[in-house]
Amino acid sequence: MSPFEPSAENAVEIRGLSVTYRGSGKSVRAVKDCSLRIRRGEIIGLVGESGSGKSSALMAIPRLLPAGTLVTGQIICDGTDIANLSEEELNKWRWRRIALVPQGAMNSFTPHLSIERHITEVLTCHMGMSRREGRERAADLALTAGLETSILTRYPHELSGGQKQRAALAAAIACDPDFLLADEPTTALDVITQSEVLETITGLARRRGMGLLLVTHDLPLAAGVCDRLAVMKDGLIVEKGLSRQIVTEPAHDYTKKLIEAIRAMEKPPEVLP
Ligand SMILES: Nc1ncnc2c1ncn2[C@@H]1O[C@H](COP(=O)(O)OP(=O)(O)OP(=O)(O)O)[C@@H](O)[C@H]1O
Ligand SMILES: [Mg+2]
Repeated sequence: MSPFEPSAENAVEIRGLSVTYRGSGKSVRAVKDCSLRIRRGEIIGLVGESGSGKSSALMAIPRLLPAGTLVTGQIICDGTDIANLSEEELNKWRWRRIALVPQGAMNSFTPHLSIERHITEVLTCHMGMSRREGRERAADLALTAGLETSILTRYPHELSGGQKQRAALAAAIACDPDFLLADEPTTALDVITQSEVLETITGLARRRGMGLLLVTHDLPLAAGVCDRLAVMKDGLIVEKGLSRQIVTEPAHDYTKKLIEAIRAMEKPPEVLP
């Protein structure tokens, strides 16, 4: 992407994004000069092996990386550079414009709060709803996320992994965001539940015209549901393009290797009784 290309309305994009963690030890440059655009109504897959920098790139968008992390480059939402917003302004963007299902969402619920409370909290804090309005809306959101409303009174430990991921999704879409960032939303689930939850997320994005950034290490899964893919390795986006094109004509050696490895796994084992 040319740095001189005008920024798109109806899109969130990162331009020349670099992320460096500066902890007690050596600093880690997790994302290196990456650019990516997610238009409304489009599903983008960010794929790559563990540690390639996917979550770092995703968490940089709503500016939710740990304090002290060095972030350079631009993050532009509907023409506004998010980097220039105050924390107060940014809080208005989070949830309402850009919502997040973080990696490991199913393990990050507060144990002593009911599922209903988790969802209503988002609505009272970010949409100014009363608790009563919030509770009514929570029931709609649960249904939209594929949950029965009876789970609302339950506590996180009383839900299955798939139900928890759906509850995290219900909370993320509570403010009807324009963009949804979903980090490995189905990774810890069995294959059937994985595909059902993924269908709910992508179906929702399509119906609502949201822009969806789906982060996963699973290339075939991403290729099956995403319009476009970006492949990350060692902090760099090494390839991006239409999903079909990336799968059928990968240009970068790393993508070629990934696809060869998947094909090899798909081959029937030679030694079978
Ligand atoms: N808070 C942190 N402090 C220091 N280094 C970090 C921190 N978070 C991530 N890293 C490092 O940044 C690099 C990229 O990590 P990141 O979590 O973005 O990868 P990922 O592609 O999301 O991996 P996974 O598929 O396992 O979730 C890794 O080398 C990781 O060790
Ligand atoms: Mg990650």
